[in-house]
Amino acid sequence: MGKALDGVRILDFTHVQSGPTCTQLLAWFGADVIKVERAGAGDITREQLRDLPDADSLYFTMLNGNKRSLTLDTKNPQGKRVLERMIRECDVLVENFAPGALDRMGFSWEHIQSLNPRLIVASVKGFGPGPYEDCKVYENVAQCVGGAASTTGFDDGPPVVSGAQIGDSGTGLHLALGIVTALFQRTHTGRGQKVLAAMQDGVLNLCRVKLRDQQRLERTGVMKEYPQFPNSAFGDAVPRAGNASGGGQPGWILKCKGWETDPNAYIYFIAQAPVWDRICKLIGREEWIDDPHFATPSARLPHLKDIFAEIEHWTMARTKFEAMAVLNRHDIPCGPILSMKEIANDASLRASGTIVEVEHPVRGKYLTVGNPIKLSDSPTEVTRSPMLGEHTDEVLAEFGYSETEIRSLRASGAI
Ligand code: COA
Repeated sequence: MGKALDGVRILDFTHVQSGPTCTQLLAWFGADVIKVERAGAGDITREQLRDLPDADSLYFTMLNGNKRSLTLDTKNPQGKRVLERMIRECDVLVENFAPGALDRMGFSWEHIQSLNPRLIVASVKGFGPGPYEDCKVYENVAQCVGGAASTTGFDDGPPVVSGAQIGDSGTGLHLALGIVTALFQRTHTGRGQKVLAAMQDGVLNLCRVKLRDQQRLERTGVMKEYPQFPNSAFGDAVPRAGNASGGGQPGWILKCKGWETDPNAYIYFIAQAPVWDRICKLIGREEWIDDPHFATPSARLPHLKDIFAEIEHWTMARTKFEAMAVLNRHDIPCGPILSMKEIANDASLRASGTIVEVEHPVRGKYLTVGNPIKLSDSPTEVTRSPMLGEHTDEVLAEFGYSETEIRSLRASGAI
């Protein structure tokens, strides 16, 4: 079966996490992703956080599946000429270098345009235009400057960063959307364009509901679904909301059977208004159905702590999976807190291809997260990440280099 992005050639100058997430997605959709790396070194993550002495790390292998690897020194004069030829024939160049690195390499937007006006040049940067545009940025910096850290955690503790890599992988997702959108526009205009996804902007986009809350707070001085209500004061900025739901239906994390020894014996419980009567019956508080202090969503807001404490008596008598089974039968939204160990062994995630086992020539089998986006006409088969320079000769031959020319490039240190 053909793939959605069959025929799209991508020159992949990405490294670490944000850019590689983006190009791995495009590879899963069928694009030919040629990862360009420096000979001898490659993407720094090949050797970071290694669990096996001489094998590419899981950090690298889990972000670079379905790609080909070409070694090329783009600061070497002959390497530059190779890159120019590739730019002429590719559709997209993706990079997440520190700001200005592409220009310093001699590949300004103007130069790239003169080589191939159809090329889409897509970049992840830490910040968009402004005072910080020249700064290097990593994941947690993005979470801090994008509004996630100040709004995550509990109000009696410091700001907290999330385990979800919203700065890196989140921005990679944004960039991938920008690239396919630019490819679509090119079908009408024939022109490439620059695509920029700044990590601060990507995180802020994912924290949109917190900017909503900032404006609500400024107008009303209070947010009744936040745990600060009704007993503590609000300041002038959105406070950390603990585990409160970000939406209109109150929620909290509640203990389940075994919580004393199992750090993940918890369930997220949503006291959704349409099923309030069922919740009351289930936990044995039927009198709350008609009690004016509990009968309506707004009447319940000052009592959320008491309500969740009462529901917790019920959840603590059950394991998180038992509670989930009963609550789902009553159509009450909830979710067990799953550990990574539980997720790694989840049969349905494996069956759907969201968790995939891949065979690697050096490290053997490893687990990776497959394509979370399923297209019925473009299924994803996850393949292993490439060894450094594994496809150098193959790719150069496809770009018209003879064996003799490839030997000479190697002798010059360009590849
Ligand atoms: N041939 C020759 N030179 C190459 C090369 C190649 N194939 N690939 C990379 N280089 C050079 C670059 O041109 C750059 O040289 P310069 O400093 O002379 O301009 C150099 O390698 C280092 O690249 P850089 O991107 O600056 O790496 P770094 O390790 O110093 O910084 C980051 C890493 C992630 C902080 C930085 O790249 C960054 O801020 N990126 C944008 C934001 C981002 O994506 N952050 C999240 C990462 S998950």
